[in-house]
Amino acid sequence: MRKLLVAGNWKMHGSRADTRELIDGLDAALGSDSAAEVLVCPPYVYLCDAADALRGTSVVLGAQNVAVEASGAYTGEIAGTMLRDVGCRYVIVGHSERRSIYGEEDGLVAAKFRSAQRDGLTPILCVGESLQERETGITEAVIARQLGAVLESSGIVAFKDAVVAYEPVWAIGTGHTASPEQAQAVHAFIRGILTHEDDTIGNSVRILYGGSVKSSNARDLFSMPDVDGGLVGGASLDAEGFAGICRAAG
Ligand code: PGA
Repeated sequence: MRKLLVAGNWKMHGSRADTRELIDGLDAALGSDSAAEVLVCPPYVYLCDAADALRGTSVVLGAQNVAVEASGAYTGEIAGTMLRDVGCRYVIVGHSERRSIYGEEDGLVAAKFRSAQRDGLTPILCVGESLQERETGITEAVIARQLGAVLESSGIVAFKDAVVAYEPVWAIGTGHTASPEQAQAVHAFIRGILTHEDDTIGNSVRILYGGSVKSSNARDLFSMPDVDGGLVGGASLDAEGFAGICRAAG
């Protein structure tokens, strides 16, 4: 059985005070009985505050990005070992905003995936097609290429300790959530690629859906057989709403 994971991607939002308030609110709203694993990914500079606020809760900490290099003269970069040092367990790699705004291509995403694991973090690998790619019928080709780059670089065994997030770019921050059936079709396609390499590993990898997940649509999405939770942006900035999404995964 795959334990569902609900991850909040805070992106570049909030302040130190907001970080504490959001985590305290989430902890209170969740209570002690979240059946799903719950993760928050605040901005780098608030990770220490978040780690403090999370102490004694069951919510785990992650980061939104990681350097490829282990240490050295890389101005502005943050190493995976540093993320571990402040209490992170997960890191998002290949988010579509990093791919499209910061020019992170498949090769760099694959290198970040590898570095994350080298440094003891579980990567959450984001894949997803743009609206134009969907409309031209190349969704599967795009996903296969994005996933293939990581498989080629790290091998299927690396997916024993990794999470995949399917995030159609047209659904991110737009309010246009993929239907549960649309999500399931791509999730099944992703799982098919992984099980083709290794049946056991492919069946154990968690595949999250991301893109305008809200407490009102989470239950239907999470009820699909290959949807193992969500990567939540906007709705993760509201403690009650995010807790509602976590409960939908219960
Ligand atoms: P959204 O973002 O929930 O605001 O659509 C999801 C994401 O970018 O991970």
